[in-house]
Amino acid sequence: MTKKIIIAIDGFSSTGKSTMAKKLANQLGFIYVDTGAMYRAVTLYAMQHNLVAKEYTNTEDLIASLPQIRLTFTLNEQLGFAEMYLNGVNVENEIRTLEVSSFVSTVAAIPQVRQKLVEEQRAMGKEKGIVMDGRDIGTVVFPEAELKLFLTASAKVRAERRFKELTDKGDNVSFELVLENIEQRDHIDSTREDSPLKKAEDAIEIDNSDLSREEQFSLILDIVSKN
Ligand code: DC
Repeated sequence: MTKKIIIAIDGFSSTGKSTMAKKLANQLGFIYVDTGAMYRAVTLYAMQHNLVAKEYTNTEDLIASLPQIRLTFTLNEQLGFAEMYLNGVNVENEIRTLEVSSFVSTVAAIPQVRQKLVEEQRAMGKEKGIVMDGRDIGTVVFPEAELKLFLTASAKVRAERRFKELTDKGDNVSFELVLENIEQRDHIDSTREDSPLKKAEDAIEIDNSDLSREEQFSLILDIVSKN
């Protein structure tokens, strides 16, 4: 059995981090935490309370509302993974829409939002035996993580994957809009002042533009076994 460690998986939007992290956690018997889902749930709360819209963000009121936002992960026994709950309501599907994606980077750039979520993420990793994916896991949340992976792929490849995912679910979106959203999020996520997306110095970078999921997973298992 793999000893209980912290595995941090960071990288750009739609690089397949969540799929890899989930699979890896299952294989190792570790807990999986999708930190993007937490930022998405806070964004959904802001949308539901008219605190964020196309033309504005009511940062002040959103910060004041943070104590009222309760985020929990609850295992869906049937699916075999944890789903995101916002104040007791399952929001797993709602947080994955393109609308939430279009506001999430703005909300995730607010330092007080990050502070709240980072605190909760650190508490989840206390016992180790965890695979956590996000943007700042190896740099800010767990700089001491035993293993850090940084996933990349070209924006076009990522947009193609995301477009397929959304249209398979029945979402009526254009490829151009999906690509634009990915490029916009890359820009905001990597240029924000607080905890910008960047590769930790000791992270192993994997460009998966030309790798199948299976090839990437076996590469990662190989890295884990050598850790
Ligand atoms: O992984 P994702 O695409 O579901 O993440 C949604 C957004 O949340 C992403 O655009 C940036 C933000 N995020 C972040 O700033 N820090 C994290 N640890 C995870 C996500």
